[in-house]
Amino acid sequence: MDRYQTVTSSEIAPVAGAAIGAALRQPHPQGLDPGHPGHAQAAQDAAASVAPVRRAATGEGEDAHEALAFLGQRYSMGPKYLGFPAPSPQELRRAVAIALRAPDHQQLRPFRFVRVGDAQRERLAGLFAHDAARRGHCATEVERARQRAYNGPALLAVLGRVRPNVEDVPEHEQWACIGAGMMNLLNALHLMGYGAKILSGASVRDPDIQAAFCRTGETLVSWILAGTPTCAARPKQPDDVQAALSDWIESEPQAPGEHT
Ligand SMILES: Cc1cc2nc3c(=O)[nH]c(=O)nc-3n(C[C@H](O)[C@H](O)[C@H](O)COP(=O)(O)O)c2cc1C
Repeated sequence: MDRYQTVTSSEIAPVAGAAIGAALRQPHPQGLDPGHPGHAQAAQDAAASVAPVRRAATGEGEDAHEALAFLGQRYSMGPKYLGFPAPSPQELRRAVAIALRAPDHQQLRPFRFVRVGDAQRERLAGLFAHDAARRGHCATEVERARQRAYNGPALLAVLGRVRPNVEDVPEHEQWACIGAGMMNLLNALHLMGYGAKILSGASVRDPDIQAAFCRTGETLVSWILAGTPTCAARPKQPDDVQAALSDWIESEPQAPGEHT
């Protein structure tokens, strides 16, 4: 079978989702707190768990093929379609360990995630409502903004720290790392059988909300909502791999700014 052949989610997702999700949802023997001395071992264990994905590159193993096909069926799931259970704190730590495998030039670690606990939703709701009111929204909209703090059975804030003037690591590389970290996190959650979505909205630009989450030099990039999908995910539009991957045609003129 052509490794790049399209596989529909209805064919693959339930099978791969069950097998891969079950394997990856198992509790991890050690905490994955990056500060913990067992972190290196834990990261190795996590890598071993996703070995099937690596084997797929060489065509070994049916489970590996399923894992790749399943990854190709990751779609964002909005809060309306996210139910309980939420990923546990342990599962979130494991997903963040995968996020930290994002390519990171000079290991600047330009991102981190902050989990908003259930008991903290009310405080966040107040901040969201205050932001909406500050922007002049009507009472109905303010209430809608307040309720958004309760969206997503698990809720993470994504903090980016892009350092200016780092030799050899321009800011766009650091932003690329942040994006890769978020993507790795989404893929890890997907492989565990959870749905997730990155959302930003005006709330990330509110100074009080930023102050509540950001350390010096950090940007509140977005929120990540995660939970158990309550329906099948659907692509918003078909992907065009041909447009995204082509052979270099040397004679083809490049637009200004596209020269390397
Ligand atoms: C940093 C960031 C912020 C985003 N913020 C929003 C948002 O506020 N609202 C929204 O509808 N989509 C937002 N998106 C896009 C969605 O997360 C999602 O990628 C998009 O709906 C496409 O769905 P897909 O991931 O299934 O292709 C954001 C994406 C990124 C990377």
